[in-house]
Amino acid sequence: MISIKASNYSVHFNNTAYRQLNLYLEQNVFSKLFVLVDTNTNQHCFPNFMSRLETNLNIEIIEIEAGEAHKTIETCLGVWNALSELGGDRKSILINLGGGVVTDLGGFVASTFKRGIKYVNVPTSLLSMVDASIGGKNGVDLGVIKNQIGVINSGEMVIVDTTFLDTLPQNQLKSGWAEMLKHGLIAEIDYWKKLSDLSQLTLEDLDQLIYNSIIIKNTIVNKDPYEIKERKHLNFGHTLGHAIESYFLSSKHKNELLHGEAIAIGMILECYLSYKLLNFPKSDCDEVKNVINSLFQQVDITSNDYESIIELLKFDKKNEHGNVNFVLLEALGKPKVNCLVENDLILEAFDYYKN
Ligand code: GLY
Repeated sequence: MISIKASNYSVHFNNTAYRQLNLYLEQNVFSKLFVLVDTNTNQHCFPNFMSRLETNLNIEIIEIEAGEAHKTIETCLGVWNALSELGGDRKSILINLGGGVVTDLGGFVASTFKRGIKYVNVPTSLLSMVDASIGGKNGVDLGVIKNQIGVINSGEMVIVDTTFLDTLPQNQLKSGWAEMLKHGLIAEIDYWKKLSDLSQLTLEDLDQLIYNSIIIKNTIVNKDPYEIKERKHLNFGHTLGHAIESYFLSSKHKNELLHGEAIAIGMILECYLSYKLLNFPKSDCDEVKNVINSLFQQVDITSNDYESIIELLKFDKKNEHGNVNFVLLEALGKPKVNCLVENDLILEAFDYYKN
């Protein structure tokens, strides 16, 4: 697969990827190589990764706990301390080997340690391959509020090795699939149609679909790296999705949802809002709901939860001047940014999701 060029880095695939990474490490002068892993990727991905790495650099491993609950500034503090104690300097390089938490947090740590060291993302989850590791957004959560602290700063390259997906549980694969569905919904009807008919797809198609998703995301980010305009399209499903994710993360009576599981609900709700406010066809709205419901189990959200979820919308990063700005769809592949929505309509959307 041909490498995908982003503004100032490239995304490399499978065998080519390791050749590019090894060459890059050989051609640049680094003092030390740090690999950031979590408890899962240390066990399941690190041995394979090391077997592909060819370098004389001194390598140190830094491990963090796995899971969204650890995407915090406290975890960063641990990683900054480890870098410092293990002799990290401005010529060190950090390789982030993991899913979205590791690539987001590692990118942020690298962007801030000694005012910035170079980093490379090696995503090991589908979600991180098609979304988190692409586009330079990195950071951590503030309490349960998602991605409130961070910077936009790209790494040196992204290494997509799809064999890592062989060890990924089904629910994690589906979580990434939700972001791929979003790429189709906001940018390419044919891609949406292809993804939505799972019966026609085999595992052999996955590499090409990942490639397509990265192209879609990269094209959007290249036009608007700092999210002034088009990049907001990538937030479709995320205004309510992030609020739901945060709510489930904070609630003692709920099980934590994976990012894609929350975004999948967010996309159904926001399609409904699109239908009510922008004449998005009801038939398309129903189709999105059916496709998502065929993949994901219905999540129990009751009217007792609505108020708290709506309350969390005030932390959305797209908000301006106190307004909650939704990204909705005028049609498949035609997003509209900065849409304002009354709370009553959000309640209606929750009812639509449930029935
Ligand atoms: N995940 C949305 C973005 O990178 O803009």
